[in-house]
This record gives sequence, C-alpha cells and structure tokens, in this order.
Amino acid sequence: MATKASQGRNGWFEGNGKLWGAVAAGVVVGFAANLGRKAAMQAVTGGAAGDWFETLKAEHRITMKVFDLIEATEDDQTVRRGLLLAKLKYSLSKHALEEEDVVYPALRDAARKDVADKLNHDHGYIKTYLYELLEMPKDSPAWIAKIRELRALIEEHVREEEEEIYPSFHASLSDEQNARLTTLINKEGFSYN
Ligand SMILES: [Fe+2]
Ligand SMILES: [Fe+2]
Repeated sequence: MATKASQGRNGWFEGNGKLWGAVAAGVVVGFAANLGRKAAMQAVTGGAAGDWFETLKAEHRITMKVFDLIEATEDDQTVRRGLLLAKLKYSLSKHALEEEDVVYPALRDAARKDVADKLNHDHGYIKTYLYELLEMPKDSPAWIAKIRELRALIEEHVREEEEEIYPSFHASLSDEQNARLTTLINKEGFSYN
C-alpha cells in the first residue's frame, strides 16, 4: 500500500484513502479494545489503581463544582438548572451507591454501626432534597434557596466523612483490606455508569 501511495497522483489518492481507512478502523478497534480493557479492569480486577478514600474525596470535589455551577445560574435559566440538577443527582447517586453498598457496611463490620447509620440517615435526606428540587418550579428564588440548604447539608456530611470518620477507618485497615474496598467501590461505580 505504501508503494502504491507513491505511484502518481491517482495512486497516491487511492493509497492514501486506503491508508486513512485503515487508520480510522484502527482507531475504532483501539477505542473498543480500550473500553474493553477498562471494563475488564474495573469489573474483574476491580481496578487496582487508586484508593477508595481518594476516589470518594475526588467525587466530593466534583459535587461541589456542580453546586458552584448551579449557584451561578439566574432564575430564568430553568433549562440549565434542570440539566445541572440531573448532573448533580447522577453524581450523588453514584457516590451514594459506593458508600451505602460498600463503605458503610464495612464500617458496620468494623463495629462502627452508629457512625454508618448516621451517614446513611444523611443520604436519605439528601435524596429528599433532590426529590423536592425536581418537583419545584426552577425559576423561583425558593429553588436556589433549597439548593443552598442541600449544599450546606452535604458540606457538613462531607466534612464528617473526610475529617472525622474515613481517616481513622482507612488507617485501621490493612493494605489488603483497603485494596478490597477500592475494588468493591470501583465495581459499584462502574455498574452505575
Ligand atoms: Fe456519604
Ligand atoms: Fe461521601
């Protein structure tokens, strides 16, 4: 194909066309293989990369960025508010699944049932806020006031997790136990995508 590509104008175009076809096919195959590898890593090995506490902290930061975007909207930007609320709900729901299905049960296993139950209780109210925000008219000042209430609730919840609960829990576990939790939250997160 390379020699044909160098043979005169028509040959060049023909060869080049074939070359680009091959490149495009390669990109598609490579992309699919990449997705497959990612899926296999997250679903089977659980994605040994990373650490459950770091992952959850990063997700907390993303949630706060979505709040920043929502709080920057005006009352008449109802479509944007609806889209950002959907984004907020998605990131909170994925995160809640990772915590409620893995981290909180592990806390209960480690004799920290009261702490896990309190955090789970907060999650219930966070879902209630999301429900109310979906139902309320998005062009009213009451809507953005409720967003700020939800943000305050989540900020306090995040503070408890990041400063009071997770550091000592993480430190109390062996490397193997922390790696296992990382595997399990990656599986939960992946199943939600
Ligand atoms: Fe939480
Ligand atoms: Fe969290």
